[in-house]
Amino acid sequence: MLNTLAVANYRSINKLVIPLGQLNLITGPNGSGKSNLYRALRLLAETAHGGVVNALAREGGLDSTFWAGPETLSRRMRTGEVAIEPTVRQGVKRLRLGFAGDDFGYSISLGLPDSNGHFMLPGHSSPIPSYFSLDPQIKRECLWAGAFYRPASLLVDRDGPMIRARADRKWDVLAQHTPTFDSLFDQVGSLRGSPEVLEMREFIRRWRFYDHFRSDADAPARQPQLGTRTPVLHHDGRDLAAALQTIIEIGDPDALRAAISDAFPGARLNIDPLPGGRFAIEFFQEGLLRPLSAAELSDGTLTYCWSRRC
Ligand SMILES: Nc1ncnc2c1ncn2[C@@H]1O[C@H](COP(=O)(O)OP(=O)(O)O)[C@@H](O)[C@H]1O
Ligand SMILES: [Mg+2]
Repeated sequence: MLNTLAVANYRSINKLVIPLGQLNLITGPNGSGKSNLYRALRLLAETAHGGVVNALAREGGLDSTFWAGPETLSRRMRTGEVAIEPTVRQGVKRLRLGFAGDDFGYSISLGLPDSNGHFMLPGHSSPIPSYFSLDPQIKRECLWAGAFYRPASLLVDRDGPMIRARADRKWDVLAQHTPTFDSLFDQVGSLRGSPEVLEMREFIRRWRFYDHFRSDADAPARQPQLGTRTPVLHHDGRDLAAALQTIIEIGDPDALRAAISDAFPGARLNIDPLPGGRFAIEFFQEGLLRPLSAAELSDGTLTYCWSRRC
């Protein structure tokens, strides 16, 4: 469970800390920042897949994702009494993302390189020129125990290239030359003394984002796929058949059957094990003499099977 999500300096979000419940519905007028909040969460998830720096580049670069407004908005700026003007920047410009769950919390902050056109590499004593000198850099990462961040509850603290972990009452330095593009989660191999990092990475890797379910002719969900037990469906639906079979075997098959016959009276779903360990979906529809495969289902039917799985 995530209890809190925090985002700062990301697109239309200047600073936001939101408490989360079991189900959260975000509503608001067009352009109010709903998608930006969602994108911030996706970006946070990228850290556990080694892709946060790259994902930012795909979004147009860190500079363009920074909140474009002034660092602080006075009350009179908010009410429109005075024009919105730049304020004197108090701190350095950082994109900050973080969350807290029941047991652990994690935060990351990213910024632009300090030295223009040069880049510090492990093993080099002075900065060298690099084509990647405008890449966003991971400046700080914190992993703490408990539902709230407090300095005393910090377990792992990454500050620039340095990673430290708390061992009893003192801090152990675990790494001193962490590249700016690697997150803590890319370093788990050398952080064996801190199992929380691996645990947190696996926790984040289990998050799923079902906003772009493909149903076109080449969609992964339409192809027979290698089936292994799948309690959590992949983002793109590539393991839909395996996920449905997992429900049939160890989930709630009655609820699945009821949902299918509720939407398509008289219809029934079967998973066909193909040679070579691949699974295919068979959809028996009233009035048809043979089952339809996933490749033949309508976009709506396929999306329905997928949404039932979610
Ligand atoms: N870097 C930025 N700084 C400030 N505002 C931004 C930035 N990038 C996008 N926006 C604003 O974010 C808004 C879009 O938010 P979005 O999350 O797509 O809205 P919606 O609630 O419709 O999903 C636009 O109004 C745009 O002006
Ligand atoms: Mg939107």
